[in-house]
Amino acid sequence: MNQHPNTHRHGSSKSSRREFAKFLGCAVMAGAGVAAARPLLPVTLAKSLAPVAIAQASEIPVGGYKLFRYPTKDDPCILVRLEADRFAAYSQRCTHLMCPIHFQAEKRQFYCPCHEGFFNAEDGSVLAGPPRRPLPRYAVELREGQVWVGPEQHENNG
Ligand code: FES
Repeated sequence: MNQHPNTHRHGSSKSSRREFAKFLGCAVMAGAGVAAARPLLPVTLAKSLAPVAIAQASEIPVGGYKLFRYPTKDDPCILVRLEADRFAAYSQRCTHLMCPIHFQAEKRQFYCPCHEGFFNAEDGSVLAGPPRRPLPRYAVELREGQVWVGPEQHENNG
Protein backbone atom coordinates (compact mmCIF):
# COMPACT_ATOMS: atom_id res chain seq x y z
CA MET A 1 0.00 0.00 0.00
CA ASN A 2 1.24 3.41 -0.88
CA GLN A 3 1.70 5.79 2.02
CA HIS A 4 1.19 9.53 1.70
CA PRO A 5 4.60 11.25 1.91
CA ASN A 6 3.43 13.34 4.92
CA THR A 7 2.22 10.32 6.89
CA HIS A 8 4.71 9.19 9.56
CA ARG A 9 5.13 5.75 11.00
CA HIS A 10 5.10 5.26 14.74
CA GLY A 11 8.93 5.24 15.14
CA SER A 12 9.57 8.36 13.11
CA SER A 13 6.73 10.18 14.90
CA LYS A 14 8.60 9.70 18.20
CA SER A 15 11.75 10.97 16.56
CA SER A 16 9.84 13.95 15.13
CA ARG A 17 8.49 14.81 18.58
CA ARG A 18 12.00 14.65 19.99
CA GLU A 19 13.26 16.93 17.19
CA PHE A 20 10.36 19.33 17.77
CA ALA A 21 11.05 19.45 21.53
CA LYS A 22 14.72 20.15 20.78
CA PHE A 23 13.69 22.90 18.37
CA LEU A 24 11.34 24.42 20.97
CA GLY A 25 14.11 24.37 23.58
CA CYS A 26 16.45 26.20 21.21
CA ALA A 27 13.77 28.69 20.22
CA VAL A 28 13.01 29.47 23.88
CA MET A 29 16.73 29.89 24.64
CA ALA A 30 17.22 32.13 21.59
CA GLY A 31 14.19 34.20 22.55
CA ALA A 32 15.52 34.62 26.07
CA GLY A 33 18.88 35.71 24.65
CA VAL A 34 17.28 38.30 22.40
CA ALA A 35 15.08 39.58 25.22
CA ALA A 36 18.10 39.87 27.52
CA ALA A 37 20.16 41.71 24.87
CA ARG A 38 17.39 44.02 23.69
CA PRO A 39 17.77 46.78 26.29
CA LEU A 40 21.53 47.02 25.61
CA LEU A 41 21.41 47.40 21.82
CA PRO A 42 19.71 50.78 21.35
CA VAL A 43 21.76 52.30 24.16
CA THR A 44 25.05 51.11 22.63
CA LEU A 45 24.11 52.27 19.12
CA ALA A 46 22.75 55.60 20.30
CA LYS A 47 25.97 56.25 22.23
CA SER A 48 28.30 55.32 19.38
CA LEU A 49 26.40 57.35 16.78
CA ALA A 50 25.88 60.51 18.79
CA PRO A 51 27.50 63.59 17.23
CA VAL A 52 30.73 64.64 18.91
CA ALA A 53 32.67 67.91 18.99
CA ILE A 54 35.98 67.28 17.20
CA ALA A 55 37.73 70.66 17.18
CA GLN A 56 37.45 74.39 17.41
CA ALA A 57 37.09 75.60 13.81
CA SER A 58 39.82 78.18 14.48
CA GLU A 59 42.43 75.50 15.21
CA ILE A 60 42.30 74.07 11.65
CA PRO A 61 43.51 76.39 8.85
CA VAL A 62 42.02 76.19 5.34
CA GLY A 63 43.79 73.22 3.73
CA GLY A 64 44.50 71.75 7.15
CA TYR A 65 43.22 68.60 8.79
CA LYS A 66 42.75 66.88 12.10
CA LEU A 67 42.76 63.17 12.85
CA PHE A 68 40.15 61.81 15.23
CA ARG A 69 38.28 58.60 16.03
CA TYR A 70 34.59 58.00 15.37
CA PRO A 71 32.20 56.41 16.12
CA THR A 72 34.45 54.31 18.36
CA LYS A 73 38.07 54.61 19.46
CA ASP A 74 38.92 51.89 16.93
CA ASP A 75 37.71 53.91 13.92
CA PRO A 76 40.32 56.37 12.63
CA CYS A 77 38.91 59.37 10.78
CA ILE A 78 40.11 62.59 9.20
CA LEU A 79 38.50 66.03 9.31
CA VAL A 80 39.62 68.42 6.54
CA ARG A 81 38.94 72.12 6.08
CA LEU A 82 38.23 72.63 2.36
CA GLU A 83 37.15 76.30 2.57
CA ALA A 84 36.84 78.86 5.34
CA ASP A 85 33.27 77.72 5.97
CA ARG A 86 33.43 74.13 4.68
CA PHE A 87 34.67 71.03 6.46
CA ALA A 88 34.42 67.35 5.51
CA ALA A 89 35.00 64.22 7.57
CA TYR A 90 35.84 60.73 6.32
CA SER A 91 37.00 57.39 7.57
CA GLN A 92 40.79 57.35 7.36
CA ARG A 93 40.75 53.72 6.22
CA CYS A 94 41.26 53.17 2.52
CA THR A 95 38.37 51.13 1.12
CA HIS A 96 40.81 48.85 -0.69
CA LEU A 97 42.74 47.14 2.11
CA MET A 98 42.30 49.54 5.03
CA CYS A 99 45.62 51.43 4.92
CA PRO A 100 45.47 54.96 6.37
CA ILE A 101 44.89 57.67 3.76
CA HIS A 102 46.72 61.03 3.73
CA PHE A 103 45.33 64.45 2.83
CA GLN A 104 46.95 66.30 -0.08
CA ALA A 105 45.47 69.78 0.35
CA GLU A 106 46.96 71.30 -2.81
CA LYS A 107 45.24 68.64 -4.95
CA ARG A 108 42.15 68.43 -2.73
CA GLN A 109 42.51 64.67 -2.57
CA PHE A 110 43.42 61.78 -0.31
CA TYR A 111 46.30 59.49 -1.13
CA CYS A 112 46.76 55.90 -0.04
CA PRO A 113 50.46 54.93 -0.23
CA CYS A 114 49.85 51.19 0.02
CA HIS A 115 48.74 50.68 -3.61
CA GLU A 116 48.53 54.22 -5.03
CA GLY A 117 44.86 54.81 -4.33
CA PHE A 118 43.36 58.32 -4.65
CA PHE A 119 40.08 59.76 -3.37
CA ASN A 120 38.40 63.12 -3.99
CA ALA A 121 38.43 65.21 -0.79
CA GLU A 122 35.20 66.93 -1.90
CA ASP A 123 33.02 63.84 -1.68
CA GLY A 124 35.23 60.83 -0.93
CA SER A 125 34.78 59.32 -4.41
CA VAL A 126 37.53 57.19 -5.95
CA LEU A 127 39.82 59.08 -8.35
CA ALA A 128 42.35 56.37 -9.20
CA GLY A 129 43.94 53.12 -8.09
CA PRO A 130 42.54 49.81 -6.87
CA PRO A 131 39.80 51.07 -4.46
CA ARG A 132 36.29 50.50 -5.82
CA ARG A 133 34.22 52.14 -3.07
CA PRO A 134 34.25 55.77 -1.87
CA LEU A 135 35.48 56.68 1.58
CA PRO A 136 32.76 56.52 4.24
CA ARG A 137 31.77 60.14 4.87
CA TYR A 138 30.45 61.58 8.13
CA ALA A 139 28.06 64.46 8.69
CA VAL A 140 29.77 67.70 9.75
CA GLU A 141 28.14 70.68 11.41
CA LEU A 142 29.51 73.98 12.70
CA ARG A 143 27.99 75.00 16.04
CA GLU A 144 29.19 78.17 17.73
CA GLY A 145 32.72 77.86 16.42
CA GLN A 146 33.00 74.14 17.06
CA VAL A 147 33.11 71.38 14.44
CA TRP A 148 30.77 68.49 15.23
CA VAL A 149 30.82 65.15 13.46
CA GLY A 150 27.80 62.86 13.28
CA PRO A 151 26.67 59.58 11.69
CA GLU A 152 27.84 58.38 8.30
CA GLN A 153 26.18 59.89 5.23
CA HIS A 154 25.28 57.51 2.44
CA GLU A 155 24.63 59.73 -0.61
CA ASN A 156 28.05 59.03 -2.14
CA ASN A 157 28.06 55.34 -1.34
CA GLY A 158 25.36 54.24 -3.73
S1 FES B 1 45.02 49.84 0.70
FE1 FES B 1 44.71 51.75 -0.24
S2 FES B 1 45.12 51.40 -2.30
FE2 FES B 1 45.36 49.47 -1.38
